[in-house]
Amino acid sequence: MTTTAPRGTGAASPGHGGEGPAPRRAAIAARTLRTDRWWLQPLLTVLALVAFVGYSTFRAFQNAYYFSEPYISPFYSPCITTGCEGETFPELFTGPAWISPAIYILVVPLGFRLTCYYYRKAYYRSFWLSPPACAVAEPHRRYTGETRLPLLGQNLHRYFFYLGLLFNVVLTYDAVLAFRDETGAWGHMGLGTLVLLANAALLWLYSLSCHSCRHAVGGRINSFSRHPLRYRAWTLVSRLNARHMQYAWISLFGVAFADFYVFLLATGTISDPRFF
Ligand code: FES
Repeated sequence: MTTTAPRGTGAASPGHGGEGPAPRRAAIAARTLRTDRWWLQPLLTVLALVAFVGYSTFRAFQNAYYFSEPYISPFYSPCITTGCEGETFPELFTGPAWISPAIYILVVPLGFRLTCYYYRKAYYRSFWLSPPACAVAEPHRRYTGETRLPLLGQNLHRYFFYLGLLFNVVLTYDAVLAFRDETGAWGHMGLGTLVLLANAALLWLYSLSCHSCRHAVGGRINSFSRHPLRYRAWTLVSRLNARHMQYAWISLFGVAFADFYVFLLATGTISDPRFF
């Protein structure tokens, strides 16, 4: 004979190790019981990402105002086509001048950010409402995760990470070149030099705090005690990794601001304050 224990006694009951399957979710008719402004974060995410995508698309197709000696916009560096102005990173590719260099260049940073573990969470929640917030039901009936195309492509993230490092090297090189004046003489420093330096530093912080970076430096080993250097590197990257979301946003705004600053200089809207 089967007996059912009274609720709250801690004894086995249906769905809790006793008879019958556990219900997948609590049967609550309301979409959510949350009363706080849970919708604010997804809304801000949508606004910020749409603003960035709109601005960067406009600038990429504009194909102008991206160089003001000695500064180059990060959207157009490395300046790989024959349409580039000034002396920047060595030309790697002589493509047609009428195609904006930014079209080729933005593929890597875009792929890197699009497949980023943090941004995935951000845009899955804010654009696909999957789910929009913790403890808020999603509108979709089925959930297949990232098991099929096109989301299977998110696994490319580690490769975009390595490619992104190359771009960080290029942008750091551009920041170093910004210590030269219009004549090519070293010893110059303007506000634009600091803007490009800050942009490169933020992009390094974003890349080094990446989850793939953490795995690259500390993964696939059985014992940290036998790899003290990798343990140190992993500890450092793990500290950065805890702030990956902040670096993701700050570096996104940083790269847009660096481009906008060069745009203002190139159009003659402002002049660059010079420190020495
Ligand atoms: S997880 Fe965000 S850049 Fe790799």
